[in-house]
Amino acid sequence: MDISDVHHSIAAEQISLSAIIGSLSYALDLTEGLPAGHSLRSCWIGMHVGQHMGMRSLDRSHLYYTILLKDAGCSSNAARLFELYGADERRIKSDFKLVDSDSLMHLGRFVLAHAGAGKSLHERFTRILNLAQNGDDLGTELVATRCERGASIAHQLGFDEKVAAGIRCLDEHWNGNGKPARIRGPLIPLNARIALLSQVADVFHSAGGSTLALAEISKRAGSWFDPDVVQAFQQVEKQAGFWEALTDSELQQKVSLLEPESRVIRIDEDRLDTIAEAFAQVVDAKSPYTYGHSSRVAAYTLAVAKAMGIPEARQRWLRRGALLHDIGKLGVSNAVLDKPGKLDENEWEQVKSHAAYSEQILARLAVFSELSFVAGAHHERLDGKGYPRGLTAEQIPLETRIITVADIFDAITADRPYRGPIPVPDAITIMEKERGTAIDGDCLDALKRSLPALCF
Ligand SMILES: [Fe+2]
Ligand SMILES: [Fe+2]
Repeated sequence: MDISDVHHSIAAEQISLSAIIGSLSYALDLTEGLPAGHSLRSCWIGMHVGQHMGMRSLDRSHLYYTILLKDAGCSSNAARLFELYGADERRIKSDFKLVDSDSLMHLGRFVLAHAGAGKSLHERFTRILNLAQNGDDLGTELVATRCERGASIAHQLGFDEKVAAGIRCLDEHWNGNGKPARIRGPLIPLNARIALLSQVADVFHSAGGSTLALAEISKRAGSWFDPDVVQAFQQVEKQAGFWEALTDSELQQKVSLLEPESRVIRIDEDRLDTIAEAFAQVVDAKSPYTYGHSSRVAAYTLAVAKAMGIPEARQRWLRRGALLHDIGKLGVSNAVLDKPGKLDENEWEQVKSHAAYSEQILARLAVFSELSFVAGAHHERLDGKGYPRGLTAEQIPLETRIITVADIFDAITADRPYRGPIPVPDAITIMEKERGTAIDGDCLDALKRSLPALCF
């Protein structure tokens, strides 16, 4: 495919913003440890509620993106959650979704079951004590981080403040016992009230079916949820096919039809760049060990591609792949990503799975179909010893080799919590040892030529 085809594919498909965000929302589901498609299913539920409540098309458009992006900030508290519990934060996040935080008994049981899970008695006791003494403040801190970050990503993506406010207030409860601001009643934006109900409905439906979901929602009317939103939900859930759609393989297309037709946003190349940049930030926020990694790899990729004379439009295309090459890391627990010591075999397999996840997430969109393979193969090696497929040199595209050299360069030179940055000349010496085995020699030479422009 040449670059004119790339332009053609975007124009011909008339890609809508909702299609891109709908596909990338799978990455957010992974971060939350929730069954794939959670954001889309929540969107299906919430849009029916909004429609039943007579929301105008502009408000429904805000609701649509509030729900799809409600978890955009979720990677930003993952490392802190792991630090506090000392256990798999994706499991903690998903299990917590089944807890009624208004009940001290439920909260207590949750902390006892999850804090320091699998660790020594002393460590478990220390963590439980800390969470018991400071749980409320820590909970507010975690939710505030996530909500603010999510709202900021929404702004970065070019959405209205109403979408950002809906995300910011997602965890506020009707009775004022929510977080982080403890606002109550109609002071909570309607899109946030509907998004919260939709999230809980999907989580309980996935865990135990529609009867359980309906019972849980009805039970929390007036405490967590706006009674009017609950009433609307109780009406729409009776509609034929409402629950069945949640397990339909065509769900994404069905959800896309719920976006108000007059508000459908078509994207251009600039918006596609913005989306890639925003999701790169979601990835980079997940772990202090990889902070800023995706955006630096994108800058190095661009520099190497320029130095190799890759056509400008193709450079732009490749930069998006570099920004998103590690999006699959959202599906790997911080218990592994942030582990200071050596990884065991199982943990190493979990780390390695991120490359295949990246490819799968990007492959959901036709506009990223070629890029999904190019970016997902960034840990392949010329000697065939890479992953996920163990490709051989002739099977690894030049564009992938460019991302790989940029990725390795950043992995060596970046400042890490456990060590300072390795100086550039030393990094090049290390990389030279991998010339022809892990690293393409032409790409390495291009990196060396572009170093003066990279401001080291
Ligand atoms: Fe990677
Ligand atoms: Fe990477």
